[in-house]
Amino acid sequence: MQGRAMAGSGRSEERPSRQINVILRSSEPPVISQTVSEPDASPAVTDKLQQGVFQEIRKELDQLVGLDNIKTLVYEIFALLQVARLRTDAGLLSEAQVFHMVFRGNPGTGKTTVARIIAKLFQKMGVLGKGHLIEVERADLVGEYIGHTAQKTRELVKKAMGGILFIDEAYSLARGGEKDFGKEAIDTLVKAMEDHKNQFILILAGYSDEMEFFLDTNPGLPSRFPIQIDFPDYSVDQLIQISEMMVKERDYILMPQAILKLKQHLLAEKAESLQAFSNARYVRNIIERSIRQQAVRLLNQYGGSSPGKLELMTIRTEDLKVDKKPNST
Ligand SMILES: Nc1ncnc2c1ncn2[C@@H]1O[C@H](COP(=O)(O)OP(=O)(O)OP(=O)(O)O)[C@@H](O)[C@H]1O
Ligand SMILES: [Mg+2]
Repeated sequence: MQGRAMAGSGRSEERPSRQINVILRSSEPPVISQTVSEPDASPAVTDKLQQGVFQEIRKELDQLVGLDNIKTLVYEIFALLQVARLRTDAGLLSEAQVFHMVFRGNPGTGKTTVARIIAKLFQKMGVLGKGHLIEVERADLVGEYIGHTAQKTRELVKKAMGGILFIDEAYSLARGGEKDFGKEAIDTLVKAMEDHKNQFILILAGYSDEMEFFLDTNPGLPSRFPIQIDFPDYSVDQLIQISEMMVKERDYILMPQAILKLKQHLLAEKAESLQAFSNARYVRNIIERSIRQQAVRLLNQYGGSSPGKLELMTIRTEDLKVDKKPNST
């Protein structure tokens, strides 16, 4: 699929380049909606449509706040796979598709989460045998002597067969230039993409600017990654929504005052530390820390007696320690 998906950004004015929309590189104008819409299915094809597969994937996507354009893209991939199957059944040509992707975005913007969902979709649609995700970074690929890198990289490709090889901070492979072993890793990956076409999907992930630079400095690369997705920074409101979902999943409740405190903290934090801000990962760390604080408070407050169900669930303002930065990783 020749797609280039870029989601609208919640990034600040300092870095407007993140404010982009989905563009499809096909001859047809893109049909992009903000919701995951399904085409009308005529009774003749309904039986063959694997809508059930998509319902399951959509359930997982629905649990993610925002990322509308990514949700749309996932549906496009599903539709393409589905129609390719129908075309094959009808005796029509069905071109083999390339699904290698580039995910661009700051930490904690959902890249790994989305990669997992996509792996599952490909597995359920029969494109990938296993649908597992192998997540690696430079140190896993690059070795210590000539030939070592190619060997390490090949081994990881082998592990990823039938699934997705996800390389985080992929731009770091090009950082050291021609003499760096990173180049050997890139060359090995490119060869593996040729040798094992359609047997695994490669996703390169990293910060937007660096990934752009990385692809620009390797002329052969962009065309090998027809799907490029931008993961925008979350707005404060989206981060609050994510926090509320995270506490709900864990059977906790944030008091309204605690939400307000978190909101004010996030506004300040986002304004101050744009580069290092790790989005949903940052709020997850705050939530997990608050849960620990709440536990300590309850023990201090109640000693040996039980606090009661509601109290066990409630995270109060004083549990939310947002003055010190939580670990961003
Ligand atoms: N849109 C979202 N809605 C709800 N939770 C989210 C969303 N995006 C991310 N999260 C949660 O935030 C955490 C970090 O997400 P994830 O690991 O996918 O980010 P990432 O972009 O891969 O980060 P990194 O670059 O640091 O590896 C996870 O717990 C994930 O479930
Ligand atoms: Mg990740």
